[in-house]
Amino acid sequence: MKVLVVGAGAREHALVLSLSRDPDVTELHAAPGNPGMAALAPVHAVAADDPAAVTALARRFGVDLVVVGPEAPLLAGAADAVRAAGIACFGPSAAAARLEGSKAFAKEVMAAAEVPTGLAHICDTTAEAAVALDAFGPPYVVKADGSAAGKGVVVTADRDAALAHARQCGRVLVEEYLDGPEVSLFAVCDGVTTLPLAPAQDFKRVGDGDTGPNTGGMGAYTPLPWAPSDLAADVVARVVKPTVEEMRRRGTPFSGLLYAGLALTSRGLRVVEFNARFGDPETQVVLARLRSPLGELLYASATARLRDHPSLGWDPAAAVTVVVAAAGYPRAPRTGDEVDGLADAAAVEGVEVLHAGTRLDESGRLVSAGGRVLSVTATALDLAQARERAYAAVSCIRLDGSHHRRDIALQAMCGSLEAPGSSNAE
Ligand code: GLY
Repeated sequence: MKVLVVGAGAREHALVLSLSRDPDVTELHAAPGNPGMAALAPVHAVAADDPAAVTALARRFGVDLVVVGPEAPLLAGAADAVRAAGIACFGPSAAAARLEGSKAFAKEVMAAAEVPTGLAHICDTTAEAAVALDAFGPPYVVKADGSAAGKGVVVTADRDAALAHARQCGRVLVEEYLDGPEVSLFAVCDGVTTLPLAPAQDFKRVGDGDTGPNTGGMGAYTPLPWAPSDLAADVVARVVKPTVEEMRRRGTPFSGLLYAGLALTSRGLRVVEFNARFGDPETQVVLARLRSPLGELLYASATARLRDHPSLGWDPAAAVTVVVAAAGYPRAPRTGDEVDGLADAAAVEGVEVLHAGTRLDESGRLVSAGGRVLSVTATALDLAQARERAYAAVSCIRLDGSHHRRDIALQAMCGSLEAPGSSNAE
């Protein structure tokens, strides 16, 4: 099978890595890719959010499957264009990707499908937002309606800051605050059938102890020893299946990756948000443990054959990823700094150094090219060892002004995290 992966981040690097290990994948391309992916597959310049350009590339290489990583190409209709050219595509149509593209639309679908989620007011003016903020009280949760790469959400006790975010975003959702730990559950879907992947936890705030502004994600780990053992099955039954059925009923079947961002609150499971693609950085750890061939799985989704797919195999190992971010991230990331020490980092046992915001400059030096620069991913027998390996590798990286969180998977490792109302262990 010939596969083209569209995207340029650590998530796509993880996809390319996993696909490169699938014996059925005979040819692999990445576009636009990054220097890390270039070691595994030829990379090709393309504007990923130009559906015609993506389709032309897929035709040029005669690929059997296109895997679209980020949301922007999906929202722009890349999967529709590729499918219209008769090529199988992993990723939802633009109409189905609205589950991520509009939080108001996602709430409407969840209401129709009776999926548990937080109460929300959709506000088109700052005055409406002010009324909604006062109705809920602090902590205030304000979300931009449109897709914002994980950065459209502000959770704050400061009413002025909440209102300022609402003013800046235009249409927003003001939501009730959901307590309890957050979990990401990915489900591979083909419009009808759904297959959950292993749950993971992401760290969205920039600073240790969940402090500072939201980011695209500063690290992740899996499995979740503290979560109920039936979490994935519960989420599929109460969230994924009803949503997929509702999307099919509306004539916009969801095929691709449905990412349920969840809060395990004191009042039960609630959906925080949907995304229509693999999460970053959770994908890096989830795929590190997936033993089933990825090409076959994504092709089964793209060709509506998931029903016949064997159940997924998982490595019992633990995986931890730590994001190395550029100076100034997330407010004003500085780019163009040399990135060094990758060979030493990659030499740490069980470690893969996945590239996100990197590029080669004119003289062939690897330099930072985005806010999240690397996702250093380690697998090991347990979370403690996976953390140790990941942080040992991070300490080898040299990038002026870079920063990373030091507490990824720490609470889970120490056993100090628990799901409300649950004493289950995985
Ligand atoms: N991990 C957050 C996201 O992918 O949006």
